[in-house]
Amino acid sequence: MNAVYEKLMKCYESFQKKIHFRPDVALVLGSGLGDHADSIQVEGVLDYSHIEGFPVSTVPGHRGRFVFGYVHDVPVVIMQGRVHYYEGYDISDVVLPIRLMKLMGAKKLFLTNAAGGIGEGFQAGDLMLITGQIGNFVPSPLIGPNMDELGVRFPDMSQIYDEDLRKVILGAAKDLGIPLRQGVYIQLTGPNYESPQEVQMCKILGADAVGMSTACEAIAANHMGMKICGISCISNLACGIADHPLTHKEVQDTADRVAPLFKQLIMESIVRIGKLG
Ligand code: HPA
Repeated sequence: MNAVYEKLMKCYESFQKKIHFRPDVALVLGSGLGDHADSIQVEGVLDYSHIEGFPVSTVPGHRGRFVFGYVHDVPVVIMQGRVHYYEGYDISDVVLPIRLMKLMGAKKLFLTNAAGGIGEGFQAGDLMLITGQIGNFVPSPLIGPNMDELGVRFPDMSQIYDEDLRKVILGAAKDLGIPLRQGVYIQLTGPNYESPQEVQMCKILGADAVGMSTACEAIAANHMGMKICGISCISNLACGIADHPLTHKEVQDTADRVAPLFKQLIMESIVRIGKLG
């Protein structure tokens, strides 16, 4: 058997032994947002370290656990903390949790992240609905023998971020009075932030926000036929657009500041997404 698939199955068996819960929506909480899963009715928690073979994050501020529960009556699994390619993991390990959540039963995936703002008029603290992505600065997680059990060899990528989910999120933001920008997310490897010249490159390529996660996860989820949506928290203006050097602290402080609003939008969106069936 394919080694990547074998590892995934081991993790799935480990999950099945510990948790009996079938989520509809999978939510990934990004940098600094991982502590804000507190408005759900928790039914179970599973530390990544308790799943055999599961990749565990080394980044400070990234907790590592799945939380299972309900947002109103919508069954969700929340990833509090993700692993990143820059930590040195194989890209197949980086997306393993996404694949695992699909096996748990999740049909819809809600991705969040902190990102640097590039788009015209963007400010630190803005929220951006992801409309599309540029992911080919990191290896595709589909490289290697295709896992036919998960999806086809050459998956279509013409609509990664589901139009219906986007409409629902835009509606939720409007009703809550939360301003929501829209734009294209680009994933670079990190861990260094970009040079001003690299940010210019991203801008020329059509990106509005730059980060170090998400796009590879969306590729893996798209491969498995999940419905995907995503929001970036613009935690800072990207290098060269901001007039000061960037620090991880600025990213975390802004994410902390915006988190209550972000959480409100995510939770209301999930309630509505759950009704889509
Ligand atoms: N660049 C890359 N990743 C990021 C940034 C950034 O400016 N901010 C938060 N994550």
